[in-house]
Amino acid sequence: MTKSTVKREVQVVGNPDELSRRAAQEFVRLADEAIRVKGFFTVALSGGSTPRGLYLQLACDDYREQVSWPHVHLFWGDERCVPPEHPESNYRMACEALIHRVPIPKENIHRIPAEREDRARAAMEYEQTLKAFFHPDAGAFPRFDLILLGMGDDGHTASLFPFTSALDETSHLVLANYIEKLDVYRFTLTVSAINQAREVMFLISGASKAPVLREVLEGDYQPQRLPAQFIQPVNGRLLFIVDRMAAGKLRRI
Ligand code: 6PG
Repeated sequence: MTKSTVKREVQVVGNPDELSRRAAQEFVRLADEAIRVKGFFTVALSGGSTPRGLYLQLACDDYREQVSWPHVHLFWGDERCVPPEHPESNYRMACEALIHRVPIPKENIHRIPAEREDRARAAMEYEQTLKAFFHPDAGAFPRFDLILLGMGDDGHTASLFPFTSALDETSHLVLANYIEKLDVYRFTLTVSAINQAREVMFLISGASKAPVLREVLEGDYQPQRLPAQFIQPVNGRLLFIVDRMAAGKLRRI
């Protein structure tokens, strides 16, 4: 994969609350468009504190009423290898911040079976879940309407961490990725799976992300060290919604 040639849009907002509201507006717009055109909306959720702000906004009256939740299907871009009730579970976080607060049918919630002992099998099962839902053509990848992503201060996104084996995967959709620096496995959509999305929306907040955001957006193309640089939708929109603190070191916005 070469340096990003995809059209990338960076929206800078004043603070984390504005970021969550702007992201909620984009979520509503995309959901409305997808449901109007094809009758349903597919979104892969992210873990982390920044997307949580979006989920809380979507559960508020202003936005909750604007989304036809029975036509929304939730998936996960990554998950920790813990049971669904575990405090570190991305699924649990989404349940508390969003799912338990909106009228979405339980059959529309497609969580990663992250409690399984056999991680490779769990990843394969989730891959089958995606293929069964999206019915991609042979050799093709499912095309999410929206994939939400955060970014760590090391440039990781989803659970695609620097110099980990998942970065090189080109045929699978989902992997259990070993992250040496954390000494844990995490489930993650692969770069190829993410890059098929109609829209990928990064939500990035805080001064701690300013140095890495500048490297990712304005620095040399080093995606093994900065995996967020691998995210280049093949035929989709790449949107960064960042707050002023995270954008503090950007030169070109
Ligand atoms: C996770 C996320 C992870 C997250 C980043 C940024 O499972 O935690 O997938 O990639 O998006 O670590 O997290 P914050 O938004 O909390 O800074």
